[in-house]
Amino acid sequence: MPSLLIVGATGTLGRQIARYALDQGMSVRCMVRSAKNSSFLKQWGAELVQGDLCRPETLAPALENVDAVIDAATTRPNDSRRLREVDWEGKVNLIQAMERAQVAKLVFLSILMAEKFPQVPLMEIKACTERFLAETKLNYTILKPCGFYQNLINEYALPILEEQTIWIGGETTPVAYMNTQDIAKFAVKATQIGGTERQTYAIAGPKAWLPRDIVRLCERQSGRTARTAKMPTGLLRFARNFALSFEWGWGFAERMAYADVSDSGMTFDNPMEATYATFGMNPEETDTLETYLREYFSRLLKRLKELEYKEPKVKSPF
Ligand SMILES: NC(=O)c1ccc[n+]([C@@H]2O[C@H](COP(=O)([O-])OP(=O)(O)OC[C@H]3O[C@@H](n4cnc5c(N)ncnc54)[C@H](OP(=O)(O)O)[C@@H]3O)[C@@H](O)[C@H]2O)c1
Repeated sequence: MPSLLIVGATGTLGRQIARYALDQGMSVRCMVRSAKNSSFLKQWGAELVQGDLCRPETLAPALENVDAVIDAATTRPNDSRRLREVDWEGKVNLIQAMERAQVAKLVFLSILMAEKFPQVPLMEIKACTERFLAETKLNYTILKPCGFYQNLINEYALPILEEQTIWIGGETTPVAYMNTQDIAKFAVKATQIGGTERQTYAIAGPKAWLPRDIVRLCERQSGRTARTAKMPTGLLRFARNFALSFEWGWGFAERMAYADVSDSGMTFDNPMEATYATFGMNPEETDTLETYLREYFSRLLKRLKELEYKEPKVKSPF
């Protein structure tokens, strides 16, 4: 089994990659920026090494005696570092450090259809990184998920429980979200099996969902009625262009650019039969959104009951 370095292991997907790799008996090292929010990885059995994609001198020690790297890092929305610094310059630093250290295998997390949205900064950077990788001699595998079930909690599930308005955009753009626990299996298996060298795989969940269908599903699973409002994408675009005129507004504008994606009318989905076959995985074992949300709501509502929950307002347990 290869010895694995995970970058971004404290993140939503990265922690599931660490968990699955450790469960598989792999030797796992996680490159983390701060010991404070990563102690759980040590408790799980991973080795921690301090490092930062934007500090190239920290990368060589992290790569020592490593056979494969899974890069699940990305700029945090509240980080002082800009998107370009982490997701472009930081990733170039990592790729070059891997070449120097002769660590051949990299699993890189991109986004489905990134190349179709050059006006969206993160999508453009992902597409550029894919092209950059193609020019190296690395034995890389690119995975392109559409979206994570976990992100739907803040967007849909919690507002319903907190009786807050759910802002809906993109009624024409269905997305085949997937549980990060399942995406993690593809990432780890890409380091273990042959045939994925210098290949790119779309990673789509069992079904593509429109926002209104997710709202209905949440209503059914929670037994509550949602309050929804349509997000005016024209207004979002105006706000983005306005923010771009000021340096302080760049981070905000980068995030607002997603209005172009959620209102694109494209379908974020892909046939997955060939990918499951290549990775030796069974699609029946992939979590559905129905199961994920049912478990989420039943766990949360049970906990609220135990706390003799009376008021309608709740706080996120995550
Ligand atoms: N979210 C989605 O729906 C989605 C969809 C498709 C693809 N993806 C891709 O999947 C990957 C994982 O996304 P995610 O949502 O799980 O990310 P996330 O939860 O935001 O976590 C980001 C991770 O990157 C680390 N990081 C940030 N800046 C860093 C730096 N300068 N050096 C080293 N590590 C750094 C963070 O560490 P700290 O804990 O120190 O901040 C954290 O572990 C990303 O490549 C993302 O683009 C995401």
